[in-house]
Amino acid sequence: MKEQIEQIKLASIEEVKNAKEVKELNDLKVKYLGKKGELTLLLRGMGALSPEERPIIGGLVNSVRDELNQLFEAKEKELQKKELAEKLEAEKIDVTLPSNKTKTGSKHPLNRVIEEIEDLFVSMGYDVVEGPELETDEYCFERLNLPKGHPARDMQDSFYITPEYLLRTQTSAVQARVMMANEEKTPIRVIVPGKTYRREDDATHSHQFNQVEGLVVDKNITLAHLKGTLEVFMRKLLGENTELRFRPSYFPFTEPSYEVDVSCFKCGGKGCNLCKQTGWIELLGAGMVHPNVLKMNGYDPKVYTGFAFGTGLDRLAMFKYGITDMRYLYRNDVRFLSQFDEMDR
Ligand code: PHE
Repeated sequence: MKEQIEQIKLASIEEVKNAKEVKELNDLKVKYLGKKGELTLLLRGMGALSPEERPIIGGLVNSVRDELNQLFEAKEKELQKKELAEKLEAEKIDVTLPSNKTKTGSKHPLNRVIEEIEDLFVSMGYDVVEGPELETDEYCFERLNLPKGHPARDMQDSFYITPEYLLRTQTSAVQARVMMANEEKTPIRVIVPGKTYRREDDATHSHQFNQVEGLVVDKNITLAHLKGTLEVFMRKLLGENTELRFRPSYFPFTEPSYEVDVSCFKCGGKGCNLCKQTGWIELLGAGMVHPNVLKMNGYDPKVYTGFAFGTGLDRLAMFKYGITDMRYLYRNDVRFLSQFDEMDR
């Protein structure tokens, strides 16, 4: 029996030594020390021994068991350490490797221009308001001193949905809405950015485009206020050296009316292909709010005066960023849009 014990001891030591993983080690533990393990079975067989032999063999088995337990423990620690090291090695990442760049979108040039204009006018005490794109004939034309059959309606080719509803051709429609909505008839200072629609489509016109409207109604508002406001507006957007030129024009809802040109920011006014050699670029329509418009929308023209202006945001963006075809603004081509990313840095 002693021999048997010795054999088990030697065999198990050898096997433990060669174990390569914790799992293998655990199996060996069961094999030798488990309930049905070889050593355990030996102990059970001790009933057959003489009383003298029992304590000797029992002691021997116990010391071998202790020795094996220690051996298992040491080996287990060793294997765990090794497995951890292997795992760390396998999961190692090189933080100095170049990363895959995540692509993010960039702000659309039109939104850049709109936000810049909003910030400027809010800083001067204006509210930013919006109106419906599907507009009534009443607000788009009639309340702006353009009765049905008025020849100036031909200035804007409109998309009519029904005889009463159309896609608004101008943000000026919101002038009437703001005046009508103001029940106490208090002073007004608003800008209105928004989409507008006309039946045209070429390199400098799109059937859908964007305007920003300005409207100020108060006591003692004069043309000087309009000129000063537009000067601040254009210089902020296009550069401090921008000059303005007011040319007499006609809009049914303003009197007097002007078309406002800015000095060409490409050539500084000397004449180039952008300004068609004139040195000026037409950018805005503007004027003093027509007394009929004030009256029709509930303001007493003897007490109040006002000015209004409107400009095409698409054209502004094109000039500001040197974009040559308006349709680029609506194609969502990332090669075009990503060029504006740099402006965020
Ligand atoms: N609504 C005019 C247009 O679209 C521009 C304008 C606005 C003119 C306000 C005068 C006052 O052409």
